[in-house]
Amino acid sequence: MTLLLRWFTPLALFAASGLPLQAQNDGPAARTARDSVFSAAQVQRGASVFRRACSQCHTREQFRGDAGFVRNWEGRSFLDVFQQLSSTMPNDNPGMLPRRDYVDVMTYLLRESGYPEGSRDLPLTESSLKAVLIVPLAAASGSRPRPAANAIRRVSVL
Ligand code: HEC
Repeated sequence: MTLLLRWFTPLALFAASGLPLQAQNDGPAARTARDSVFSAAQVQRGASVFRRACSQCHTREQFRGDAGFVRNWEGRSFLDVFQQLSSTMPNDNPGMLPRRDYVDVMTYLLRESGYPEGSRDLPLTESSLKAVLIVPLAAASGSRPRPAANAIRRVSVL
């Protein structure tokens, strides 16, 4: 019964929302972290969450630019990352913050890594978080090195 409920509840909620089922197919994977999906206000709030709840163990620089940590998040949804953050951080008291604070601080870390902010808040609902995928930043600018070409050149030099 528990299993049945687990499967039925999201469907029932979705049906109750009155949206056509088709809309759900367009949702996931349609938006990425490069699409300005969170707001400047969220990033601002996230910065103060960071100062309050994270900065005793982390530095801002740790999450800046190509610091690299965000590569662990690539291919995952905002929901995955939110769940990871809220179940592991702060390291000494995981889950202590309200949902909004975790989402805000996640947008702050993404902004620090170079993902763009926009004008609208990212909604806190599970479905909204799940519908945004974290993709590599570099692919957008085309600045990612092309290992295949380099490999060929190296071979021809030999
Ligand atoms: C009491 C110390 C402490 C606090 C407070 C803390 N962290 Fe951490 N955090 C750690 C430690 C230690 C690690 C590395 C070990 C691990 O991954 O479990 C870590 C790892 C991380 C990572 C993974 C970094 C990587 O390179 O992959 C992220 C992201 C992160 N923390 C975010 C946060 C956020 C956001 C907050 C505030 C809400 C926070 N942490 C608060 C101690 C802390």
